Amino acid sequence: MRMYDIIKKKRDGGELSTEEIAFFIRGVTDGSIPDYQISALCMAIYFKGMTVRETCDLTFAVRDSGEKLDFSAIAGVRADKHSTGGVGDKTSLVVAPVVASFGVKVAKMSGRGLGHTGGTVDKLESIPGFRTTLSEEEFIGQVNRIGLAIVGQSREFAPADKKLYALRDVTATVDSMPLIAASIMGKKLAADDDCIVLDVKTGSGSFMKSVERSRELARLMVDIGKSAGKKMVALITDMDRPLGYAIGNSLEVIEAVETLKGNGPADFTEVCMILAAYMLSLAGKGSPEACRKLAEGAIADGSALQKFAEMVSAQGGDGELIAHPEKFKQAKCSRAVLSAEEGYIRRADTEAYGLASLALGAGRNTAEDSIDPSAGILLKKKTGDFVRKGEELAVLYSDDPARFAAAEEKLLAATAIGREKPAEEPLVYDVVE
Ligand code: URA
Repeated sequence: MRMYDIIKKKRDGGELSTEEIAFFIRGVTDGSIPDYQISALCMAIYFKGMTVRETCDLTFAVRDSGEKLDFSAIAGVRADKHSTGGVGDKTSLVVAPVVASFGVKVAKMSGRGLGHTGGTVDKLESIPGFRTTLSEEEFIGQVNRIGLAIVGQSREFAPADKKLYALRDVTATVDSMPLIAASIMGKKLAADDDCIVLDVKTGSGSFMKSVERSRELARLMVDIGKSAGKKMVALITDMDRPLGYAIGNSLEVIEAVETLKGNGPADFTEVCMILAAYMLSLAGKGSPEACRKLAEGAIADGSALQKFAEMVSAQGGDGELIAHPEKFKQAKCSRAVLSAEEGYIRRADTEAYGLASLALGAGRNTAEDSIDPSAGILLKKKTGDFVRKGEELAVLYSDDPARFAAAEEKLLAATAIGREKPAEEPLVYDVVE
């Protein structure tokens, strides 16, 4: 088999065989295919697409390119959720303990933030002492004991994706439906869950800017997961506004804890309840409607908060901060961003809000950058709210006041204010089952 022939076949609109796709991913993983041929095939896939069968084969080959987790020692049904990434998206911190409080096992491997989107691992590490690296024995032991553990990826899952993603990033081929689906699901399927709920974000803060494209991606990923024998649902949720009011690591943990106490922002609470309902439902706890009631009950009676506190203590975190989130280390400096005009917030460029938080030190530009856990933004007004001239739009937090000017400029430029109140957009656009 020759890579040249595989590239030519796809360039001319042909359908690649399972063997050809396996040959390609083997060569990506062992380094025997040069970058220019990998990039050429990615570009051919970008233009000619792939059938569902080809995309499934690509996904499974990516999944099988590295180590896989074996959760057979975990007793009970295992459920996970995965978000395609957003701004202020701290849903895992609420959804995982809600679901675990009903005995469904949540053995969660999460990522770090990169670019404008945040990552669950960075958020949890803002809790002093919290360990996001556990041995496999500790991880599985904790899930069996308390039903819940959230860790970072300590081993090489789907190494073919790492190589492919790096090349797609510099050859303008990230934005290809089969390549995105194989990348996300290849990594997701390397873990050993029974049920997966995908939260496919749509809008200015996500990498799928239109609902139609998000729906197409959701359908494809659900089909891939089902063909691997998983129970799957994808929700298409709004990321045209940040979720909740907090952007930045410890600020988001505090908002998540308040939500677990029943005092969360309405939009964030709603998305968490729907995600939890579908996870519980896939795990056999009843209809999504009945499971939503269960999820609300776990917030109302404190059992989800209790589960979160158990996880924090089990992973070495300071439990005192969960009871008293006001004791989190505060950023040394803050600055209020005031509105220069009066009117309704018509639109917020959510990606730019994420970049403003990154500029304050809450995120990283490269995987090696360190982050400031208390840096970020607390929004005072969101899309649809009325603001008077001179009123606070947001408060910025950072240990380094030299960072404020750039973040303030980004935030103001990203906030469109006008006389007309904008039409209300849905929080959940669709459920793909
Ligand atoms: N996230 C991924 O993991 N892969 C993609 O291709 C896009 C987003």
